[in-house]
Amino acid sequence: MRLLVCALASSLFVGHAAILAAEQRSLQPVGAVTSLSRTAEGVQLACADGSAVAISILAPDLVRVRAQFAGQPAAKDHSWAIAKTDWTKTKFQLSETADAITLGTGEVNVVIRRNPLLIEFRDAATGRVVNADHRPIARDPKSGTIGASKKLGFDEHFYGLGEKAARLDKRRGKFVMWNSDTPGYEEGKDPIYQSVPFYLGLEDGVAYGLFFDNSYRSTFEFGHLTQESADYSAEGGELNYYYFHGPSLKKIVGRYTELTGRMAMPPLWALGHQQSRYSYYPDTMLDRVVEEYRKRDLPLDVIYLDIHYMDAYRVFTWDRTRFPDPAALTKRLGEKGVRVVTIIDPGVKHQPPAAGAKDPTQDRDLASSADSYYVFNEGIAKDFFLHRQDGSLWIGEVWPGKSVFVDYTKEEARRWWGDLHRALTDRGIAGVWTDMNEPADFLDQTGKTQMDVVFDDLGQLSPYAKNRNTFALNMARATYEGLQRLQPDRRPFVITRAGYAGIQRYAVKWTGDNNATFPSVALNIPMFASLGISGQAFVGADVPGFIGRGDGELLARAYQVAAFAPFLRNHTAIDQYDKEPWRFGAHYEGIVRKFLKLRYALMPFLYTTIEEAHRTGVPLFRPLVLNFQHDPNTANLDDEFMVGDALLAAPVTRAAQREREVYLPDGVWFDYWTGAQHRGGQTLRVEVPLDHLPLYVRGGSVVPSTVPMNHTGEKPWSPLRFDIYPDANGAATGSLYEDDGLSPAHERGAFRRTTVKFSASQLTLSREGGHATPSRNFEIVLHGAREVNAVIVNGQPLAPAQWTRDAQGALTVRLADNGQPLALELR
Ligand code: GLC
Repeated sequence: MRLLVCALASSLFVGHAAILAAEQRSLQPVGAVTSLSRTAEGVQLACADGSAVAISILAPDLVRVRAQFAGQPAAKDHSWAIAKTDWTKTKFQLSETADAITLGTGEVNVVIRRNPLLIEFRDAATGRVVNADHRPIARDPKSGTIGASKKLGFDEHFYGLGEKAARLDKRRGKFVMWNSDTPGYEEGKDPIYQSVPFYLGLEDGVAYGLFFDNSYRSTFEFGHLTQESADYSAEGGELNYYYFHGPSLKKIVGRYTELTGRMAMPPLWALGHQQSRYSYYPDTMLDRVVEEYRKRDLPLDVIYLDIHYMDAYRVFTWDRTRFPDPAALTKRLGEKGVRVVTIIDPGVKHQPPAAGAKDPTQDRDLASSADSYYVFNEGIAKDFFLHRQDGSLWIGEVWPGKSVFVDYTKEEARRWWGDLHRALTDRGIAGVWTDMNEPADFLDQTGKTQMDVVFDDLGQLSPYAKNRNTFALNMARATYEGLQRLQPDRRPFVITRAGYAGIQRYAVKWTGDNNATFPSVALNIPMFASLGISGQAFVGADVPGFIGRGDGELLARAYQVAAFAPFLRNHTAIDQYDKEPWRFGAHYEGIVRKFLKLRYALMPFLYTTIEEAHRTGVPLFRPLVLNFQHDPNTANLDDEFMVGDALLAAPVTRAAQREREVYLPDGVWFDYWTGAQHRGGQTLRVEVPLDHLPLYVRGGSVVPSTVPMNHTGEKPWSPLRFDIYPDANGAATGSLYEDDGLSPAHERGAFRRTTVKFSASQLTLSREGGHATPSRNFEIVLHGAREVNAVIVNGQPLAPAQWTRDAQGALTVRLADNGQPLALELR
């Protein structure tokens, strides 16, 4: 019996390998290099088979490889993902031998072997080969499939690929890029909603990045069925990739987000707690939920309107029976500090007007659309909907029944769609949740029957196969730019389910229809961490989970992770038990309250850290490996995470677990709750009762915080507290970022950055930027302080009443913030 199983299994594997080999055989490798010409940015290689390969040096650590294979039609050099094309000219050295051509930038040497054509990226300083072709790039002239194959390192780890229902380290995995509506997905389900063909490799502490910018269905295999290679293929389009030279992971994420754009600065309220359900109605239900929140002393900033607010699911309309006066509703809730976000789906109800029916000219969103639906009529008149090759409309089926979809590759269509959001902004809606944008079609979720749909794509009339994965990106862009035009004094807030590389420029990402189960909560950590290092810093999941009932224990544990996800939203499916924080009783509600209050208290730290993500691309929610890439223990660690550089959280993601292990990398660590110090480089065993989240602060950090509040706009951050956690040398640094939290004025210098530095018992607080902060009080708390006899502020001794030292050795100094820099000395 056992033998039989083995034989069966091995024949299965042999079968698979044979398929792979067959696939590879049909790809024709690019020919040997026959000649080379220098271009403005690098070199153009002519190959024996008539192919041409361009190598461009965009920056000292950024190299682009773009091939046009023999017989492959030339395509426009354009990608919806790319935000930056105007790179300043980088100097490089070109040298040639009989065997190879080398381009050196000072950081990286690109070595191109002529025959066969194999590309190698070497570190200029150490000479080490960081990434190298295993086989020449190749294409199948019949199917148009392209492929690349890189050597697999013995201890190479793989990160990124955007949203995957998978663990952090993708080594040995196989992943497909094909945006798919996958409700109830579990670990291993692939593909799911989003496609980001960007990954980072790390071996022996040295990292590189590769972005295969091709939106066709593609496959990545990181040594999945072989010991030798990490392979990539796409079912069409160009072999066009960017190599990012490290060695630092953070530097790569920074460069990748410079190329594809960084997340827009969100409004402050976007970091607040958000409540949703499929669906709250009528309007009084929202009043009721918000009232409950306030009564129960639970913070809330946003409430959602899911699809039932619309008139029979027609986008940009209101159901007047359920929502007789939407503007009055948003005003009422606004007075309680709660904003309203509505869903918008891409499917536009296919509804030719009844005979003689006309659209009203005013308040079209509020009028009945039963006989004539203005969005459909306008889209038809302007020819903005997608057609099949034979000229017929592509009619799919989504919530409204028969539906048509906009061609967002047309600039005028994007503008029109963006402007339609007036129906929402005029009623006081604060943000837009773009959903079902894979795009989902109940008739065919795979896209197979949609392959003949044609997109304008800048006049190229390109196929569905190229445009499915970028559909959500262009829809989100239309939405974001529309909100910008409609409310130029507000930062747009857009949420998306699907996406492609670059989506972070326009939208916050939530991980779709997850499950209300512990495995799904556990998956939050690698998913948020992977999204973050793939350029998407503003991420979150439905809490405690969309599908399934869950229970109080799950709710409590889910909030212990979610409290640190940038996007924090409680949501549940139409037929599922309610999941607002109080639904499972006071015990669990109390735990949720504790973590919501913690989040609001840490708002200055979270806002500062999200601004860093906006400015540098380095995410808020981080895998440990991003902060400690030289520590091999972090390479596949994904049941802990860090928030910025300072906080380390080790949540419980299993039922009935009351003890867990926590790995602390090298350094000094402080227990956030008790102030107790731990040496790093060890694994602690800690007790984890249901109300406890193991949370540690890295020595060397300064963490700004304030008092908890009901909503982010309730009151100014006063007192503003800086917790100083010294490292082994007694030093710490950190900063606080502030602006008006709402408008784009920060882009013109209306922000204030306060930098706090502590060392050798001296603290300096310096200020930068033109945003005026309110007069308020500071609380400066030095953890692990020695005995202190006097506190000197700007040269003057502080009255003893203004400072205290507690039993744990934390010294608290209270003083007024008059907006000026400060020098403080402990004697
Ligand atoms: C999709 C979304 C979900 C939403 C539902 C109804 O399943 O992912 O969040 O509630 O559609 O709009």
